[in-house]
Amino acid sequence: GNTVRRDDGAPLTASLALSGIAFAASYAMIRWLSPTFVRAGIKGVDLNKVQRRTLPECMGAVCAVVYLLAVIVFIPMPFYKDIVAATSGGGNRDVVLSLSSPPSPPPGATAHVEQGRLLHRFPHSKLASFLSAIISLQSIALLGIGDDLFDIRWRHKFFIPAFAAIPLLVVYFVDFGVTSVVVPTPLQPYLGDLVRLGPLYYLYMTAVAIFSPNSINILAGINGIEVAQSIVVALLLVFNDALYLLAGPYPHPATDSHLFSLYFLLPFLGVSAALLAHNWYPARVFVGDTYCYFAGMVFVVVSILGHFSKTLVLLLLPQIANFVYSAPQIFGLVPCPRHRMPLFRARTGLLEPSVTVWLPERQPRKPVAWALRLLARLHLLRLTTDPDDPRIIQQTTNMTLLNLWLVWRGPLREDRLAIEVLVMQACVGLFGLFVRHRLALLIFKE
Ligand code: UD1
Ligand code: MG
Repeated sequence: GNTVRRDDGAPLTASLALSGIAFAASYAMIRWLSPTFVRAGIKGVDLNKVQRRTLPECMGAVCAVVYLLAVIVFIPMPFYKDIVAATSGGGNRDVVLSLSSPPSPPPGATAHVEQGRLLHRFPHSKLASFLSAIISLQSIALLGIGDDLFDIRWRHKFFIPAFAAIPLLVVYFVDFGVTSVVVPTPLQPYLGDLVRLGPLYYLYMTAVAIFSPNSINILAGINGIEVAQSIVVALLLVFNDALYLLAGPYPHPATDSHLFSLYFLLPFLGVSAALLAHNWYPARVFVGDTYCYFAGMVFVVVSILGHFSKTLVLLLLPQIANFVYSAPQIFGLVPCPRHRMPLFRARTGLLEPSVTVWLPERQPRKPVAWALRLLARLHLLRLTTDPDDPRIIQQTTNMTLLNLWLVWRGPLREDRLAIEVLVMQACVGLFGLFVRHRLALLIFKE
């Protein structure tokens, strides 16, 4: 086992080095390109400030390009032994030795038999995973840039990520095709140990692919929150990978998928840290929808190809909560303005919840009004009524997690709000991982 560990270390070190370079490159390029983006008209106004300055938008595109170059340069590294072995015809002594007593081939490895001699088993399926991940990420970057430039309508752009997920799902189908999930022990007498979900599982993965990028894009509206929440999710995924790689037996059946996950997450952390340095309060650039989609897709890529998409869902709990809470506005039961970000009070310099205004002649319908009042009673919304006629609703706060946090704890300064929400997110995520690794033993026997 030790030699394997040493061999895995080399690509990981290379990945770390590339991530450092990716950080430096995106940090510098964001600075250099900012004026160019503004001149090209790719800009937005920082709404929650006294002086509403115009900042370059869509800087996530710079990160995406640097990131893609970094992972493309990285492609040969995890395969260098295989490439050496395949090209030198066994000139490498280690490989010759290992081939003279071939280990059981990894699933999906292809045997090349030449002149009656086993030359090498190249892990084509591993390479396919890599390439499909890169195609998916390139597609989402392209679509995200399109959205930032032309402001695609919400109901159209919602489904964009499904297209980008197709390469992933095809490779998943061809190489793994595992669509069964483990049944919790108490239910096993009724359902058996495993349930085959078949096509439903692909539907579920498509749903995750649509949800993850969009949910990051709508937990937004204050400086730094899009990037910082993505960094928290990425760090939690890295922590989860480390738990598998360091704590468990080695090599483990899941070793490869968690190494794969690290190769894609480390450069992502590199470019994201550079972006955060420019986007944190007070922001000098905006990240654009490109970044949100790209970040969400990185998580989809590593978790689908690494077979831990259920863990990802656990780590996206705050985003899920924000989405569920937003649903009445997204699906049009409650009016949804273009921006639902918190409201800035110039007098105090603090953020307060932003509101939807209800005119007396345009009141919510009966069941909606009833639900809004119930939420207000549960402290899940702030609702003001006409002082002369309490039946008339005047205002309700916009239904986002950031506004709800301000209903509970506000008014807050912009960076304070971001930090509090991020700390909450990190705590929920760590608890999720704890549940995943400890409490799951209670309902799933290993
Ligand atoms: C999503 C949210 C919207 C929120 C917006 C903020 C939903 C359905 N949509 O829309 O409610 O207002 O994100 O990003 O929930 N901006 C700032 N400060 C920031 C970040 C953004 O002022 O810290 C403004 C800038 O004018 C920037 C614009 O928001 O140009 C970017 O908005 P965009 O990302 O295009 O909005 P959506 O993702 O469509
Ligand atoms: Mg956005």
